[in-house]
Amino acid sequence: MDKMLVKQSGPLEGETHVSGSKNAALPIIFSTLLASGKHTLENVPVLKDIDSSCLLMDSLGCKTHFANNILEIEVDDKLETLAHYDQVRKMRASILVLGPLLARFKKARVSLPGGCAIGARPIGMHLDALEQLGAKIEVDGGYVVASTDGLKGATVDLPFATVGGTENLMMAASLAEGKTVINNAAREPEIVDLANYLNKMGASVRGAGSSTIEIEGKERLLASHHAVIPDRIEAGTLMVAAAMTGGDIRLKGVRLDHLSAFVNALQNMGVHISQEPGDLVRVTGSSSYKPIEVTTEPYPGFPTDLQAQLMILMLKARGVSSITEKVFENRFMHVSELSRLGAKIKIEDRTAKVFGEEKVLKGAPVMATDLRASACLILAGLVAEGETLVNRIYHLDRGYEKLEDKLSQLGGKVERIKS
Ligand code: UD1
Repeated sequence: MDKMLVKQSGPLEGETHVSGSKNAALPIIFSTLLASGKHTLENVPVLKDIDSSCLLMDSLGCKTHFANNILEIEVDDKLETLAHYDQVRKMRASILVLGPLLARFKKARVSLPGGCAIGARPIGMHLDALEQLGAKIEVDGGYVVASTDGLKGATVDLPFATVGGTENLMMAASLAEGKTVINNAAREPEIVDLANYLNKMGASVRGAGSSTIEIEGKERLLASHHAVIPDRIEAGTLMVAAAMTGGDIRLKGVRLDHLSAFVNALQNMGVHISQEPGDLVRVTGSSSYKPIEVTTEPYPGFPTDLQAQLMILMLKARGVSSITEKVFENRFMHVSELSRLGAKIKIEDRTAKVFGEEKVLKGAPVMATDLRASACLILAGLVAEGETLVNRIYHLDRGYEKLEDKLSQLGGKVERIKS
């Protein structure tokens, strides 16, 4: 298993680009199951999760070809409707094949998924929503077994603005008979990107990005072409890296409008962020930061996928900051690893109190526990005295395209140790 050796680095400087969004690409890849023909997706990041999704698509009978960040998917008229445990277990987003397969082929058997171990992460809301469209669903031997005589549009009130649940429902409703209204829909930019691709395939999805999405079901969709939006989480991670090292970097391809709550938090701490000509965002750090309090929430609130990274900047602030995690129930696993580096962080219920100090962190061997925690530990290594060895970085490879190359390009001392 590869490891990452991170050494204390000076201020990051220079320019790098932000890759395509993992969380936008995955549902769009699975949405191609809705229409036969050749789909072409651009700006797809090179990641383990994308490889896993291609293997899953291939196992269903599709033909995927991925090169130079362009993914071509040929989808047949006939496909397998069984998503096997081996293909699904590594990635929770695999459950997103359920809606499209069920809508198009009237049946699907999908293994219950795995993914990051951050809390229970059930999929009950996905299943309840599909049942409201007329699916019969049972769980048998670790598989979700779903069938229907034909999905019918309905009004679905989601109990929580679940991202994956909204996506599964949008895809299924695109081929259902009649109109579906999703109330309390997730509003993430990735939902809008999926809606844009569904509409390019000929679907009628309106209101994506707001809490109410209306979908007029169609009989058939057609393969199309799309470029995936930039990854806001990768952008945020690089922004923290610049700020906490007191650096000055330019990032190409960031959508600041997708990062408002995060940018606000950084600015409140004292980071300078500006849009520059040539599609560049400049991030300039400072020598001292103010503590802040943030609460993670569904979009447009502060993203849970950026709280672990922000914690490192909070450790550099003068005073006590706090992060309250409202999206996942167990997402502070990086805290015990940060303590090994000398960080003072106290967890009370769903809130982490982060004691910012002048004292620098000290490098040590640490273990990555999930995707965003891996990024947080690499960031910590950049400001910790000496060397930090981050073990189990396969989590990082699931979701960041060449993070070590990008950080090195900016002057960070990060080296992959192949096993
Ligand atoms: C997506 C993102 C993930 C991000 C998360 C929240 C992808 C591939 N992943 O995950 O990076 O951290 O949104 O922004 O896009 N829940 C239930 N029942 C359900 C569905 C969800 O209880 O049926 C709970 C989950 O356990 C969790 C919360 O709702 O506590 C949020 O989950 P959800 O919004 O569905 O996140 P994902 O789609 O899994």
